[in-house]
Amino acid sequence: KKRKEKERLYALNREAAIYFYRMLKKNKRAYNYVKSRGIDELTIKTFGLGYSKSDWNDLLNYLKNKNYTEEEIERVGLIIKRKDNKGYYDRFRDRVIFPILDVRGRVIGFGGRVLDDSQPKYLNSPDTPVFSKGYNLYGLNIAKKNSRGNRILLVEGYMDIIALYSQGIDYCVASLGTALTEQQAKLLKRYSNDLYICYDSDEAGQNAANKALDISKKVGLNAKVVLLPEGKDPDEYIKHHSKKSFELLIQNALNYIEYKIHFYKHKNNLNTLEGRVKFTKDIAQLLRKIESPIEVDAYLGKVSDETGISVEAIKREIFSRNNNRF
Ligand code: CTP
Ligand code: MN
Ligand code: MN
Ligand code: MN
Ligand code: MN
Repeated sequence: KKRKEKERLYALNREAAIYFYRMLKKNKRAYNYVKSRGIDELTIKTFGLGYSKSDWNDLLNYLKNKNYTEEEIERVGLIIKRKDNKGYYDRFRDRVIFPILDVRGRVIGFGGRVLDDSQPKYLNSPDTPVFSKGYNLYGLNIAKKNSRGNRILLVEGYMDIIALYSQGIDYCVASLGTALTEQQAKLLKRYSNDLYICYDSDEAGQNAANKALDISKKVGLNAKVVLLPEGKDPDEYIKHHSKKSFELLIQNALNYIEYKIHFYKHKNNLNTLEGRVKFTKDIAQLLRKIESPIEVDAYLGKVSDETGISVEAIKREIFSRNNNRF
């Protein structure tokens, strides 16, 4: 019985997605917005992009005519109960719609973006019986077909996935604003062992990348971080650069320890003695866990160059004090 109920919710979501898709064709403003972001017809179709009208009960009425109950429509988060308990209103109004599919191609939720710079920029479906945000990744249904066991690229947002796809980079998934969860990392590992994290270059993005790197390591993914130039996300980057130059960024991605060095360098002010000491101690903690002496040696030199602290001193910090390696 539970299963039957869920099947209806998947079907309901699909019905809504198809409706949104049709509305995008009919609304000039929304269609022009999508076009203005460089999205072509084929990409609209591939991702099933849509539009939710500005009316308060448009989708609600449409789905009721399709014999879905208000309770069902509310359970997938497409409508919200009014404060006074008198009826419901559509969650998504006057937004570009990104249907979220699971690996089996079922529509499990939606994201919606405003057409201007009003707030909130994005709305997403809440967690529902068919959608758990932390257990799914946007784009995985497409990326899994194209990566064929090779690398998968992790980005932040809907538009990053879509822009990269339009440029022929078709093996990307998005964690949708939240930092990568352990469940998402495990899900990825079913399809590839090689993950390239390419979050926004802003502070929030880099903090999230640092966390995603740790989570990836924890589940045994071989993860690297792709660095974008200041103030950019993949969507903005690929708009102004070629596919080739993006692939070059991927080639130059930093491995675990390289990224940690890069990250801590930004977190500490290396112009001060205090900053250099803190930085060196942070990195020493990490080097302590590396098995290969050759690898340790290679990074030692780099840290010493960055700080002016001698290789000998860093070695002693790593190997002698509180030493639990030997
Ligand atoms: N996000 C969200 N709610 C917000 C802001 C962001 O759910 N209020 C999620 C969305 O999935 C979004 C992702 O976080 O795609 C990344 O956010 P951000 O970098 O701010 O947006 P962009 O994807 O760059 O959006 P755009 O290019 O359309 O401005
Ligand atoms: Mn961002
Ligand atoms: Mn962004
Ligand atoms: Mn963006
Ligand atoms: Mn930098």
